[in-house]
Amino acid sequence: MKESLYKKLENYSNSDYYPFHMPGHKRNMGGREMEEAFHIDITEIDGFDNLHHAEGILRDAMKSASELYHSEETHFLVNGSTCGILSAISATVKKHGKILLARNCHKAAYHAIYLRELEPVYLYPPVQDEYGIFNAVPVEKIEDVLEKNPDIEAVFLTSPTYDGVVSDVASIVRTAHRKKIPVIVDEAHGAHFGFHKDFPENSVALGADMVIHSVHKTLPAFTQTALLHINGDLVDRKKINYFLQVYQTSSPSYLLMAGIDQCISILQQERDSLFEKLSGYMDEFLEKCRTLRNIKIFQQGDADYEFDKSKILLSVKDCPMTGHELAQILLNRYHLQMEMEAPTYVMGIATIMDTQEGFRRLAEALTEIDRELEHRQKNPRGQSEQKQNENDKMFYDLGEAKKIYHLYEIDDMEKETIPLEKSVNRVSVEYIYLYPPGIPIVAPGELMTEHILELINAYKKAHYAVQGPEDYKMEKLSVIK
Ligand SMILES: Cc1ncc(COP(=O)(O)O)c(C=O)c1O
Repeated sequence: MKESLYKKLENYSNSDYYPFHMPGHKRNMGGREMEEAFHIDITEIDGFDNLHHAEGILRDAMKSASELYHSEETHFLVNGSTCGILSAISATVKKHGKILLARNCHKAAYHAIYLRELEPVYLYPPVQDEYGIFNAVPVEKIEDVLEKNPDIEAVFLTSPTYDGVVSDVASIVRTAHRKKIPVIVDEAHGAHFGFHKDFPENSVALGADMVIHSVHKTLPAFTQTALLHINGDLVDRKKINYFLQVYQTSSPSYLLMAGIDQCISILQQERDSLFEKLSGYMDEFLEKCRTLRNIKIFQQGDADYEFDKSKILLSVKDCPMTGHELAQILLNRYHLQMEMEAPTYVMGIATIMDTQEGFRRLAEALTEIDRELEHRQKNPRGQSEQKQNENDKMFYDLGEAKKIYHLYEIDDMEKETIPLEKSVNRVSVEYIYLYPPGIPIVAPGELMTEHILELINAYKKAHYAVQGPEDYKMEKLSVIK
């Protein structure tokens, strides 16, 4: 069996090699906090390869990752999926070129558009009524946009979404490849796909040209770690290598890379049993929750697209309770910290490292809360049911963006900061998004509308984290003068 990066680092740390080189801690923190982590934190010294010109242990580690995911080439990323997205878009679309972008993409994709001065053609996936989440990206729409815009150089989409909605990547790839256009899939939340029949196939196997995985999100790996997979001949590999050097640090952390290496080796050796266990825990959990009468749990079969079984999506849409309130009760009373809350739902992430005990605690908490809901008065939000439903729907209906300037055009324009309430019909120079999930409600260069203002005020009133503008309180907005 090959030596793991961690073992090599540990052996080196226990040897008598003395460091007259970076990092400045010299693997010696004199007994201070975190001493052990520092022992294996080195830089690109002899025998430890170089991420940007991998020829040794890092090349072998990345080859193992590519074998596991069946890609032709895989790169370790230490700046998150963010740098993979920046590199993938930069390498496939020429400066000032056109890209088809599903609007529900993470802000990293918008940053790539800004940096490369691209022209995005947005595609708006429909919003699902019950949860208000984005549905899968419709293949026919992709076909239509590509037909109308023959100069599009790449298709970029997010699958699964933050909420677990999986698009039909195979069909999208077939559609784009008929026109020789590469498909980039932000599969940041699906690094665990493709390892078990109960979970969706991964986009590498489905033929996507580039796939980005945040291993840190759904697999046992350190925060910041991710993978970029490449397949086929529509992508210029030299350009990808170039942009990875542009967007990644020149001092990648060996601690982080040893973590990715370990994660790959766990999957190589134990994926069958670990995913079988996770699938079983989810089944047990869902079985225990079958008695819930108020809180609903989204499951495969509830929609006509694939859904990631490891996502726990709890709807309180028809309950006298908001998503925020459910998340707060789970946190404060039961010490269960969920991943995300929205007006009508709460989302949790399950992974192969979860315990049966964790699932048991969540199922019991939900059962108790659900029982208490029986005694609550309907409509805690003090509105008629119809009004409440209208508001819930409004929360997600972002509408189509009214783009006045390209993202990159506004840097040098004259700006002023005005009260948010007076921003209707002005062009924002700031992003506005809910974080999570970080999907822009407004991107720089887009017009503020009555609807968007209403939406932001509703989010603020419901205590959701509206972010982007310099003014954290979201009372002021910077606009074009
Ligand atoms: C869909 C999606 N893509 C990309 C990213 C960025 O990933 P990272 O934090 O690994 O840079 C995120 C982060 O939340 C995300 O939700």
